[in-house]
Amino acid sequence: MRVAMIGGGYVGLVSGACFADFGSSVTVVERDPAKLAMLRDHKIPIYEPSLDQIVARNVQAGRLAFTADLKSAVDGADVVFIAVGTPTRRGGGHADLTAVYEAARAVAMAATAPLLVVTKSTVPVGTGREVARILRETRPDICFDVASNPEFLREGNAITDFIEPDRVVIGIDLLDIEGAARAEASMRQVYAPLTAKNTPFRFVSLESAELAKYASNAFLAMKVAFVNEMADLSEKTGADIAEITACMGLDRRIGDKFLRAGPGFGGSCFPKDTRALAAIAQDAGVPSRLVEATIAANEYRKEAVARRILALAGGEIAGKVVALLGLTFKPDTDDMREATSLPVMRNLLTYGARIQAYDPEGMAQAKSMVTGDVTFMPSARDAIRGSDILVLLTEWDCFRKLEPQNVMADMRGNIILDMRDIWNGPAFIAAGAVYHAVGRSRTA
Ligand code: UDX
Repeated sequence: MRVAMIGGGYVGLVSGACFADFGSSVTVVERDPAKLAMLRDHKIPIYEPSLDQIVARNVQAGRLAFTADLKSAVDGADVVFIAVGTPTRRGGGHADLTAVYEAARAVAMAATAPLLVVTKSTVPVGTGREVARILRETRPDICFDVASNPEFLREGNAITDFIEPDRVVIGIDLLDIEGAARAEASMRQVYAPLTAKNTPFRFVSLESAELAKYASNAFLAMKVAFVNEMADLSEKTGADIAEITACMGLDRRIGDKFLRAGPGFGGSCFPKDTRALAAIAQDAGVPSRLVEATIAANEYRKEAVARRILALAGGEIAGKVVALLGLTFKPDTDDMREATSLPVMRNLLTYGARIQAYDPEGMAQAKSMVTGDVTFMPSARDAIRGSDILVLLTEWDCFRKLEPQNVMADMRGNIILDMRDIWNGPAFIAAGAVYHAVGRSRTA
């Protein structure tokens, strides 16, 4: 199939490269000149493990190309995917669909033959129908089919999540029997290798596909928010969240994933998608109190981490050095969007603390997102050196190997807060640390 992918960001670039790997001929349309120049220079504008290899392989094979010229990409395409950003609209939780509708109009203007237009961006219920209206209103002379194909990609794991998904969800216009049949046939072709591997495909209504994406993300976010509350309860009751979630996870109805306690969820999806879903539910007159509570609990948690550090410092932290290990919202990404480290740094600076921070990939973005007495260090050890308090926020692999003896020898103080519970508490205590870990009341 000939595919045009509108948008070369986290979703469009990964999806375009993987569709090319599946055998389609893909043209990714990227209008940011800097990003486009990098892509054409065989560089990847985002950090995503193994994306560079899959892009290089398919560019080399002539199945993947990059352009700013949407018209040339759409002309001759069998399927066009809209994979542009849908950020939270200022002043509320609603998703901003400006870029989606602009892309739909541009695709319509560029179309020269019947075309399937697939919305891959995360969009509120009803957007697919609105895209169909825009297409047909703009070009009544062209036969457009529409579909929704939400992605379930985790940053840092996106290639695997695309190539080996748990399921492929495709919304089609079930009211248009012929159009739906055409859309299903085309989508099975672009996903042909997965069809061959018996990956579950679910062809549902446009509205169900759109809402299934939000519902999936909100449920995962709720799971994380729940385990974070159980972690706080564990610390106060002599329990241990790692033991609790190990017991919970053995119940197949609960599942053992997304039960790791931490400093609160961040990223470009959970915060945005939970806010958008709450807004959709509000607009529909059926407010979701569970989603709203998830948002509130998570926001509270992210702001509370710095208060917890202040308390560990005995209520006075002005002039003290806090070492922060990990700034990105999760490991294996360079993405700082809504990372918990941002409110942590902001609040610590208001308390007068001095911060020494290190992150393997996130510092370039972090530097532009925080101002104040923050020194970005070249290594974990440099960040730790001379610190009074050491806080781990993101569980990068490189932090797991830090030796307690070396850490304690490098620190000036001895307070440690492991907000991802990755370290060996007893070993740090034996090395002289006053050690705290999320969800653990017993650290000896
Ligand atoms: C998420 C969804 O997982 C993915 O399916 C969707 O397509 C996009 O949004 P992503 O935001 O990349 O993916 O990261 P994810 O791995 O889901 O983590 C989101 C946040 O939750 C991170 O801040 C992470 O640290 C946190 N988290 C996740 C936990 O604190 N505990 C967990 O057990 C899992």
